[in-house]
Amino acid sequence: MAGRIPDQFIDELLARTDITDVVASRISLKKTGQNYSALCPFHNEKTPSFSLNPNKQFYYCFGCGAGGNAISFVMEHDHLDFIDAIEVLAKDAGLEIPREKGAPDRYEQNAELLKRLSESAHFFQEQLIKHPDKKRATDYLSIERGLSGQIAKVFGLGFAPQGWDNLLRKIGTRAEQQEQLLLGGMLIEKKDQPGHYYDRFRDRIMFPIRDTRGRVIAFGGRAFGDEKPKYLNSPETPVFQKSQELYGLFEAKQNTPILEQIIVVEGYMDVIVLAQHGITNAVATLGTSVNSQHIRKLFKLVSKVTLCFDGDKAGRAAAIRGLEAALPVMQDEKQVRFLFLPEGEDPDSLVRKEGKESFTHRLEDAHSLSHVLFDHARKQVTLGDEEGEAQFARNAMEMIQQIPKELTFRSVLIRQLSDQSGIDSNTLNNTVFKTRRHFSPESETPDTSATTAAPYNNHDDAPDLNYYESTLSHGDYDDYSPSAHLYDSEITYTPTRTSTSKKSYGKAPFKKGKFNQDDTATLPPPAPTLSRVKQATLCLLLQPKIASTIEIPDPLQNKADEELQLFCKIWRYFTKYPKNNVGHLLGSTIENTTIQGIYALLNHQDATTKLKISNAQQEVIDMVSNMEKNLGLNSSITRLKNQGNESIKDDDSKQELRNLMEQMRRKKS
Ligand code: UTP
Ligand code: MN
Repeated sequence: MAGRIPDQFIDELLARTDITDVVASRISLKKTGQNYSALCPFHNEKTPSFSLNPNKQFYYCFGCGAGGNAISFVMEHDHLDFIDAIEVLAKDAGLEIPREKGAPDRYEQNAELLKRLSESAHFFQEQLIKHPDKKRATDYLSIERGLSGQIAKVFGLGFAPQGWDNLLRKIGTRAEQQEQLLLGGMLIEKKDQPGHYYDRFRDRIMFPIRDTRGRVIAFGGRAFGDEKPKYLNSPETPVFQKSQELYGLFEAKQNTPILEQIIVVEGYMDVIVLAQHGITNAVATLGTSVNSQHIRKLFKLVSKVTLCFDGDKAGRAAAIRGLEAALPVMQDEKQVRFLFLPEGEDPDSLVRKEGKESFTHRLEDAHSLSHVLFDHARKQVTLGDEEGEAQFARNAMEMIQQIPKELTFRSVLIRQLSDQSGIDSNTLNNTVFKTRRHFSPESETPDTSATTAAPYNNHDDAPDLNYYESTLSHGDYDDYSPSAHLYDSEITYTPTRTSTSKKSYGKAPFKKGKFNQDDTATLPPPAPTLSRVKQATLCLLLQPKIASTIEIPDPLQNKADEELQLFCKIWRYFTKYPKNNVGHLLGSTIENTTIQGIYALLNHQDATTKLKISNAQQEVIDMVSNMEKNLGLNSSITRLKNQGNESIKDDDSKQELRNLMEQMRRKKS
């Protein structure tokens, strides 16, 4: 990780950036009086409810509540994290980002390597257009796989021709370059001639694997026929850890207008063919099963992740691994769904056969996580009657226990389990179920994804593969050649089986093993650095409706420090105007410090850019109760009032609430 970006720099960046330019370069704006309006890019709408205020340098959507400044706009619109958004804006403003301290991150360290990988991608793309043997490749793509030249361009597909040193001779002319290509997995050292190399990828269709910023970090290469391995992948390198990457994520972000859901499929081709059919939001794991880190990464972008599996036995087993991966990283208001395809089909074959509509219907009908969980728990039961029920409950609880304790979702599942098994929720909750893991979880390493801009981005200037399309339409067979001459000078050695081909693929076998506490110890996301009060304030800002469900006793309001004062101010505003939202609040607030405070929260590095914070109401309630407790106040009022609107139905609770209010009033006076 590179050093922290100093706050002053962010201030300066904002001062030098005009949000109007930032927004106008991304969506079309219409001047309306002092402000601008537009169709909101963050939700579907027909009439504009997005408004931009150039004087106050903020935007707000009255439809969906999205709002903030230039940084948050870039974050949300370009699907970037905070640092990446800063980098985009700094680049536009011509500012160099100072770093407070810390070592250069892995992208800075590996700038040369990334350059070589980017050049390699260009090289492969060029071969699809220029190589004498290109027709073999374009025919494979278009005729055998039904891909258009356009989609090939979107995914930057390429062709590694036959021969041992095509790439080497083109890109690895100097020793330093060879070194980098070797490091990046593009070359392999000759066994009997140290210091001499040959191309790893030969006679394959090339799929560049990009990171979330679009930088090429690795490749997958598919054989034309039944040669083994079918897909040869880059080995792990300083910029590529296959268990952390998702193929197609960059492309999904680029090509999906409103990214709300991501579908996780198995293969490169599935992603591409789905995209060609208009389902642009699919990504694939890279020959591993989906792990917690993948899901966590996707939850930062979308609230719904659908895992897609074959309908066969292997697919079911993979789904259970997906389920186990999802449980510890679940969040309220996020969903994981499971789509089982008919036996013998993959998304590629199915969407071809059925088309987009049907596939979309399948997605809509995908099973919920709880369905799969209970189903799995039920399937493992070996006994009849009561003992079987107990077994079922135990199986289910073993899984439910892996869901973070504080989630409403967990309580909901326990309640459902209680209904199904007849065992009451408390018993379920209080019994410690020993977790037998059915497999060892993928090793989890900290997310070290992109944090710095690289000066190149091969996406924009990739060769236009239109040529490939036109070649196809002209049915040009003339330049086909057997191309034996390409490798005749170097054919004297036999490459050893590469390490990639040995380990890169294969479904992780079910490993039996005791569940080890350490397995989950690495799972929870890093603790947020926002204080509890700030986090609660953010909840209020994003979900103003919460305000009227809670009560803040006067003593608490009176003792409020600066942080809490802001919270109280916002709370008072939203209790007074329950129908309003942050846009109204910002528009009506005169005090600069309040506005600044609100911005600081909305744009805080740890604030989720998504509009929903899971469990927002509970967070606010907990914060207030906690404060009350610290002041020795009774927190029951908050609790009861919170239950309020919907659930205070019985007279006893109402009476209790009245009594408490009365007590409180007396306390005050
Ligand atoms: P599949 O074998 O299911 O193939 O591999 P596929 O995606 O349907 O491929 P096509 O349609 O025959 O071209 C699924 C994924 O597993 C990894 C790749 O990521 C592939 O996309 N894989 C598969 C490998 O890494 N190596 C292999 O040899 C095979
Ligand atoms: Mn396939």
